[in-house]
This record gives sequence, C-alpha cells and structure tokens, in this order.
Amino acid sequence: MDRQAFFETLAAENDPLAFKPEHEPRIERLRLRLGDLRGKRVFEPGCGAGPLTARLAEWVGAAGRVLALDACPGMVARCEQAVAEHAHVSAIRGRAEDAELEPAAWDLILCFRLYPHLDDAAAFLRRCAQALAPGGELVVANLEGSRELNAMHARHAGVQDDAMPAGTELAHELRAAGWTVTDVVDEPEEFFLRARRA
Ligand SMILES: C[S@@+](CC[C@H](N)C(=O)[O-])C[C@H]1O[C@@H](n2cnc3c(N)ncnc32)[C@H](O)[C@@H]1O
Repeated sequence: MDRQAFFETLAAENDPLAFKPEHEPRIERLRLRLGDLRGKRVFEPGCGAGPLTARLAEWVGAAGRVLALDACPGMVARCEQAVAEHAHVSAIRGRAEDAELEPAAWDLILCFRLYPHLDDAAAFLRRCAQALAPGGELVVANLEGSRELNAMHARHAGVQDDAMPAGTELAHELRAAGWTVTDVVDEPEEFFLRARRA
C-alpha cells in the first residue's frame, strides 16, 4: 500500500484520526501556544477529516478565515462535513507543495500532523514563505514527539517511511532556508516549531 491508498482507506473509516480523550490536553496546549487567533487568516494544509479544522473555525471566529487543504479527496469530503456550518472555513483538494495561495495573505500556516508526509518539504516551505503576511507564522505541530511519531509510522504500511525530523534538525533546515525559528519543542507528547521569515 502506498501513502495515498493509506489515507484514502483511512478516510473511508469512521471518524478518521479523531482526537482521543488523552489528546485533549495536548490540543489545549497547542491552542495556548498559538495565542489569540480571533480574526486571523489561517491556512491548514493536510487537514485530513478536519478534527483540528473544526477547532480552528472556533478559534479564529467568524471574523477570521480558515482554508483547509488535503491531497486526499475522501479526507476533503470529510473535512467539508466537519465544518459545514462555518461560512468562514473552506476545504479544498490539493497538494500542499502546489497550493495556489494569495501572496503575503496568511497570518498563520499550521502544518498539523502533515510534515512527515510531504513529498517535497522544501517546495512546501517556499510556498509558505511567499504566502505568509508580514509577521505571519509557520507552525509545524504534532501530538507526539518526532521519535514517538516515527515509531508509530513504522508500524503502518503506507507511511512507514514518512519520517518526522527531530526538532533541532528541522530548525536547522529552516534557518538555513532563511527562516527565524522562535520555538522548538520535541518532547514525547508534543512537537511544536514556530518560525517566521527572517
Ligand atoms: C496524518 S493525516 C493528518 C490529518 C489532519 N491534519 C489531522 O490531524 O487529523 C495527514 C494528512 O495529510 C494528507 N497529505 C499527505 N500528503 C499531503 C500533501 N503532500 N499535501 C496535502 N495533504 C497531504 C493526507 O491525505 C492526510 O489526510
């Protein structure tokens, strides 16, 4: 099974990748780290079935905007259902690496539980650099540390080679590509990296 088939199969299941009760404190920690998002424009690539998109819809409020994108049509359909009542949220199909985004228009690009699945992380980061508004932030976040996530992927055919770099490694790569990295957390129950254009 390849990655695409893996996620298509997952999309057909009940509540794919829904948050578990033990995830809630981690989601709350993520919300606090992100700060006040009211009125912000947020791009969420790799939205999946939208468990976080639905939270983002609330966090930005009706004055904000969320654009969710996923490469898997089944996931996009699920995400559309999850945010159907929110007119300020839209979900579209596409690869994060090819996303056609308004330049300098996004306050936050939130790469949540996506980064290890990207085909071309460098191309994605170039898109992000163009799309972020002045002062805008790129956040790469997972609900586990890189070591724990990689161990989890190793057990699933289809994503077994999808490697999450360690926080220090990703920070180094971003700095080399012209980003200012302000936060790096890579702990067993959290991965959180925040960067801005230098
Ligand atoms: C682990 S799931 C996480 C989904 C969602 N962020 C969540 O937390 O439930 C990764 C998602 O990324 C999508 N994906 C994988 N590669 C992608 C790419 N290059 N561009 C956009 N989406 C991608 C998959 O289809 C899948 O829905």
